[in-house]
Amino acid sequence: MNIRLHDGPLAELECDAVFVPLVGGAMLGQEAETLLSNLREAGEITGKRGELTILHEPKHLAASRLIFVGVGKTFDADQAFCMAGQALRAAQKRKFKRLVFALNDGDLVRAVAEGCVYGGYERPKYKSDDTFSAVDEIIIIAPEAEQSEFDSGIVVGESVNVARRLVDTPANDLGPEEFAEMTESMGVAAGLEVEVLGESDLEELGAGSLLSVAKGSARPPRLVRLAWNPDKVVNDSHLFLVGKGVTFDTGGLSLKPANSMEKMKYDMAGAATMFGVITAIARLKIPQRVSCILGLVENMPSGTATRPGDIVQAMNGKTIEVINTDAEGRLVLADALTYAVRKGATHLIDAATLTGAVSIALGSVNIGMMGNDHSLQAHIKATGNSIGERFWELPMNDEYLEPMKGDLSDLRNAGADRKAGTITAAKFLEQFVESKSWVHLDIAGTANLDKAQPNAPQGASGIAVRSLVRAVQTWSKGGLE
Ligand code: BES
Ligand code: ZN
Ligand code: ZN
Repeated sequence: MNIRLHDGPLAELECDAVFVPLVGGAMLGQEAETLLSNLREAGEITGKRGELTILHEPKHLAASRLIFVGVGKTFDADQAFCMAGQALRAAQKRKFKRLVFALNDGDLVRAVAEGCVYGGYERPKYKSDDTFSAVDEIIIIAPEAEQSEFDSGIVVGESVNVARRLVDTPANDLGPEEFAEMTESMGVAAGLEVEVLGESDLEELGAGSLLSVAKGSARPPRLVRLAWNPDKVVNDSHLFLVGKGVTFDTGGLSLKPANSMEKMKYDMAGAATMFGVITAIARLKIPQRVSCILGLVENMPSGTATRPGDIVQAMNGKTIEVINTDAEGRLVLADALTYAVRKGATHLIDAATLTGAVSIALGSVNIGMMGNDHSLQAHIKATGNSIGERFWELPMNDEYLEPMKGDLSDLRNAGADRKAGTITAAKFLEQFVESKSWVHLDIAGTANLDKAQPNAPQGASGIAVRSLVRAVQTWSKGGLE
C-alpha cells in the first residue's frame, strides 16, 4: 500500500473515492457545501460517528465517489484514527484501489495515517478462498501537515500491525522458537541489537521460574532481548519493555476448560505489543535508551510438566510454590523482569494478558494498570486518553501481597481464592522489580477483539502500541522530567 501526503487541489484527483470527515468548513467548495446542507436538511445525513454517506459521480470532482464520514461532535485524534480505519475497511470491502482523504488541516494527520495503516491490516492468510482486496494507493490532502507527523503515523501503524499479525498467527505456526526468529530478523532490520537466549542459557542464569512453565512442552523456551542504542540520548534513563509471550496457554496440568481454549493463542500479546513498540522507537530514532525483554514459552500439560505443589527457584533467588500451573504468566515475567533489572533497567513497563479477572473488573474498555510509579502511570494514562486507548489504575496496597506469600516457600503463584486476582498478580510481579520504577499493564481484556469493529476484523486489537510509542516520544522530549 502506497500512502502519501499531497498538497495540490482535490478536484483533479482521479480515484475510487474521496473520504471527507464531516467537520465544519470542509474544503470542498461551495457546490458540495450546498449539497451537504441539503442532505442535512432532508435528514439524510446526521454526521453521527461512523455514518457513511456515499455520493456517486460528484459533479465537481474527478473522483468516482464522494463519501462523507460522520465523526460525531468533536473531531479528535481518536475519531480521526477510527474514521480512517473504517474508511479503509469500507474501501476494501468494495474493492476500491485508489483513495483520497480530504482534511481541513494538518492537525490530525498522524492519527489519520495510523488509522489508514491500521484499517488496511490483512490477517494471516489461511482461507483458501480469501477475498481480501488491498487498497493500492492512498493520497492524503491535509493543508500544512507536517511530513514528520505523517511519517510517524505510518511507522507506528505498521508496528501495530506487526504486533497484530504475531497475535493472530495460530500457535502451531508460532511457538517460542518461531517467535524468537521472527523478532530477531525484524528487530535487526529495524536497527536493534538482538540477543536470543535458549534453554541452556536460561538454566545457567537460574531462570527456574520461566523454565518451570516451559517444561511440559516439546517446544523449548526463548528469552529475547532487543536493545535500541541511539547515537545521542537526552537523559540517563534506560526503559525496559517486558512482554509476556506465552505462545499458547493450555493452563498446563491445571488444564483450562475446552470452551474458548483456542483463544489462548493470544497469550503472547504482551510480547507482541512490546516488540511493536520497540521497533517503532528504533525506526523513529527516538533519542532515548530503550530495551525489550520477551519471555517466550508454551504452557502444556505432559509427563514432564510442572505439577501443582512443585517449588521452583526464580532468577533472583526467590522460591515459588506453583499452586496453579495456569497462573504461568507471572512465572515467566518474574524472570524476565529480573533479567531486565540485571541488564540495567532504570524504568520497567510490562504488558501481559495476565488475568481473566481484569475483564471482570474493567471489561474490554480499559487496560488494567498497576505499579509503583504514579507519575509514569499518569503519563501513560493521559497519553492513552488523548488517542482513545484507555488505561485505569488499580490500587496496590501491601495487604494484596498476603495471599501470595508462601508457607514452605517465599511466594506462591496463586492465592486461595479469586479475590482481586488482577492486583494480587501484580503484587507478585512487584517482588521482582527491585524497587525500580515500574508499570504493569494487564491487557487480557483488551488485546483481542471478540467481534469485528468498523476499523478492525475480529482478532488482535494491537492495543497499547500507539500509546506507549507516544509516551516514550514525549518522555524523550523532556515531558516526564
Ligand atoms: N492467560 C491467562 C489469562 C487470560 C484469561 C488471558 C482470559 C486472556 C483471557 C492466565 O495465564 C491465567 O490463566 N490466569 C489465571 C490465574 C489464576 C489461575 C490465578 C486466571 O486469570 O484465571
Ligand atoms: Zn494461564
Ligand atoms: Zn496465560
